[in-house]
Amino acid sequence: MATLVITIDGPAASGKSTLAKLLAQKLGAYFLDTGAMYRAVTLAAMKKAIPLADSAAISKMMDNTDFEFSVENGHAKAMVDGVDISEKIRDPQITENVHFVASAPLLRSRLVEMQRKFAAAHQRIVTEGRDQGTVAFPNADVKFFLTADSAERARRRQTELDAKGAAQQIETTAQAMAKRDSSDQNRTVGALVPAIDAIMIDSTGLSIEQVLETMLGHIGPR
Ligand code: CDP
Repeated sequence: MATLVITIDGPAASGKSTLAKLLAQKLGAYFLDTGAMYRAVTLAAMKKAIPLADSAAISKMMDNTDFEFSVENGHAKAMVDGVDISEKIRDPQITENVHFVASAPLLRSRLVEMQRKFAAAHQRIVTEGRDQGTVAFPNADVKFFLTADSAERARRRQTELDAKGAAQQIETTAQAMAKRDSSDQNRTVGALVPAIDAIMIDSTGLSIEQVLETMLGHIGPR
């Protein structure tokens, strides 16, 4: 069982993944990108032409599919049946459809179970997502809730998409993000809300280094 669990929850493009990776490096911990899990299940279901609203069929598909989540050279790696899908799961089409899996209680409980197994297999973990401090690891050692204003988050996501050559306008990126924020905040299970004991950090206008320093200050020597 992990002796140190740090959770980072927050909305899209608030900086969770970047900060989780850096914190994990600093603390000699494993890094878990739980959004990649929701994305991988969505991609696998789409590839197998399973209707995304059919959570029972997706759950059955999960029984017969090998999902592997790891970290390679500091980057989160996701494999489905031996195929590396780390890049593919970031496609806007997956982003647009991930809410089906994310709002299905049956699938969420299966993914939370996988997240806890991951924690059980490592000494120290930094995990990021939407429900890590509230549902998956309510007893985590330190919980963060990272936010940033929506215009800045849309700009950050647009920069990532531009770097990949995705032909999407910032207005579309901002709209898609607002839709996903709303679905993340309003679902009945695993909704995006800060844990009562979460440390709130607004990263608007802060550099990555500044947020990292703030987090390390809260974590203290471990
Ligand atoms: O990187 P970005 O914030 O855009 O998304 P992500 O962290 O890869 O997560 C993709 C989607 O998975 C989110 O919009 C959530 O709906 C869902 N998710 C979730 O429901 N619970 C988590 N612990 C992590 C992600």
